[in-house]
Amino acid sequence: MIHYLSPSILNSNFLDLRSTIEMLNQSDAEWIHLDIMDGHFVPNLTFGPPIVQMIASVARKPLDVHLMIEDPDRYVDAFIDAGASILTVHYEACTHLHRTLTHIKSRGIKAGVAINPHTPIGVLEEILPYTDLVLNMTVNPGFGGQQFIESSLSKIQKLKLLIDKTGSSALIEVDGGVDADNLKILLQSGVNVAVIGSAIFQSENPAATIRMLKSIMQSFSTKA
Ligand code: DX5
Ligand code: ZN
Repeated sequence: MIHYLSPSILNSNFLDLRSTIEMLNQSDAEWIHLDIMDGHFVPNLTFGPPIVQMIASVARKPLDVHLMIEDPDRYVDAFIDAGASILTVHYEACTHLHRTLTHIKSRGIKAGVAINPHTPIGVLEEILPYTDLVLNMTVNPGFGGQQFIESSLSKIQKLKLLIDKTGSSALIEVDGGVDADNLKILLQSGVNVAVIGSAIFQSENPAATIRMLKSIMQSFSTKA
């Protein structure tokens, strides 16, 4: 079973972006999570394709790009051209989700659907065959460093049942408030990809924290 760590650089020091990406290149983390916010879909702003392209020029790991933007169809090609390897759009932001996912996949990269904490998981049933990944938000999107919403656990378990029932190969990703304390129960619930931001970048030694988080994931993989 796949267990990936996707560190979110949202709460890293942006003045040291190059050294952050180089540290992640050398780390055991599999992906690099980039949070794109437009100030409309979420009450915060981050960065766009030019910065993703600069990161891509240094990164040696797949860029896991999470679009928290309205009308993402306007920008998916720009983020793919910039170097995204996994591009995730929000269920709540797409009127024609099937068209959006099919287009992303036609460009030769992985397509993901993100879902907000209040959105019932069942709405994804018909779209699962067309998605490579479901990103289950475990906080309200917009900021790093928020507290994990506990009811997410039963939602992830429901998602896992839905994936198994429909024979989907979609990976389950979680994002928001994930740390060393709740990682194990998340893995036990069927999570494949853990996005972790402040627990890594607010720690004293991010590289050592990544090693510690990956050792939790690895010990789980050998037991599971
Ligand atoms: C929140 C973002 C997350 C965020 C996670 O809207 O999607 O990726 O960076 O940060 P932590 O791990 O601090 O909750
Ligand atoms: Zn994210």
